[in-house]
Amino acid sequence: MMRITIRPSSLAITGGDPTVTGKPPAWPVVGDQEFSRMEATMRSGKWSWHGPQETAFCEEYASFIGTKHCLCLANGTVTLQCALQAVGVVPGDEVIVPGLTWVATAQAAMDIGASVVLVDVDPEIWCIDPKAVEAAITPKTKAIIPVHLYGCMCNMDTIMSMARKYKLKVVEDVAHQHGSMWRDKRAGSIGDAGSFSFQQSKILTSGEGGAVTCNDDEVYNIIHSLKQVGWAPDGRPGNRYGHNYRITEMQCVLLRGGLARLDAQNKIREENACLIAEELEKMGGPLRAARRDPRVTCQAYYSQTLHFDPNTAGITRNQYMEALAAEGFGLLTPYPPVYRSPLLNLYDNTSPIPFRDPRQVQNYASLRLPNVENIADSTGLLIFNNHLLGNKEYIGQIVNAIKKVNDNLATARLYFKSNVGSRK
Ligand SMILES: Cc1ncc(COP(=O)(O)O)c(C=O)c1O
Repeated sequence: MMRITIRPSSLAITGGDPTVTGKPPAWPVVGDQEFSRMEATMRSGKWSWHGPQETAFCEEYASFIGTKHCLCLANGTVTLQCALQAVGVVPGDEVIVPGLTWVATAQAAMDIGASVVLVDVDPEIWCIDPKAVEAAITPKTKAIIPVHLYGCMCNMDTIMSMARKYKLKVVEDVAHQHGSMWRDKRAGSIGDAGSFSFQQSKILTSGEGGAVTCNDDEVYNIIHSLKQVGWAPDGRPGNRYGHNYRITEMQCVLLRGGLARLDAQNKIREENACLIAEELEKMGGPLRAARRDPRVTCQAYYSQTLHFDPNTAGITRNQYMEALAAEGFGLLTPYPPVYRSPLLNLYDNTSPIPFRDPRQVQNYASLRLPNVENIADSTGLLIFNNHLLGNKEYIGQIVNAIKKVNDNLATARLYFKSNVGSRK
């Protein structure tokens, strides 16, 4: 077999020194305030059932998002379920969901008996494509779930005007972007309800947990009943079929501490993401940041959205990631297409799908959404949020690592051609 000899290069995959010597900041972050409040809460004997910490956090978060109400729930999946039910989605209704999101966005609608209609995303920002939404609207459509994905916001002007035109409800999935603003309005305050996840990787976290924000009193009352075994906010029991989707006081202690830091952290992440975007643009090459819509007046980052061009690179996305990982910097790939999830393709009695009319269910097994597949399979890359909290020296090292790989792509091509590289 022919052996290709690799010329000496400074690339770490070929034995050079890694460029990134610093470490990204650890996540999650916890402050002194949480330790003292946590102790007081533990000693108080009031650990659940809407105690003082939950009451305070809901007020603080509603004020931060700019809505009349905020309700805390057990996670960011039941928040979506309850929000959809509260805006009027009933079994048999169709809910339009982007094909690129965490599978829970689709599951939430499925689990309340709705038919999930998956549509393609905008190739630049990876969020639901309003044109695809309009094409998918039928007389059965009741709601749209725009997911503000990774580091870009959905086009809320077009989505809201379409919702008004077709009389549809909008539940924003804001699991990724606590604090983002579209024309100075926070994500989660623009649609009929906003759904947030506080799971550990999220930029506001209590390990697990979630919240719904809304302005409408009726939506608030229904969500309250759904999370509190049917009870109305005034304590009247049993006016609606509900569950226990409550959060604990200890989680709300963590959320209050996190919220006090959120604006400052979002500012650092935004500054660093803009810096990285500028440097990538100056550098040219196969990697660039997603273009920002000027109507996004504050961008919160679960991750920074990046576009990789395998043709310019001459190596695959996985190989590019391997070269960068050797330099000491790990990039991530996006979620797989929702319709490939085994959870949506389980047509057995463990799934809600068999309990609905199969003619109403989109055929997920044969669905093809080209932008979703291109992003998920070969061009999408992400910088996870903890890196974006790094100091300028660390961000400089990341940029240098990318530049080094870009400047040595010919060597990387030879390296991977020679079968030394493990990735395809
Ligand atoms: C976009 C999106 N929606 C919903 C969820 C569900 O949130 P949870 O894990 O808190 O149920 C997640 C979680 O990762 C998510 O990323």
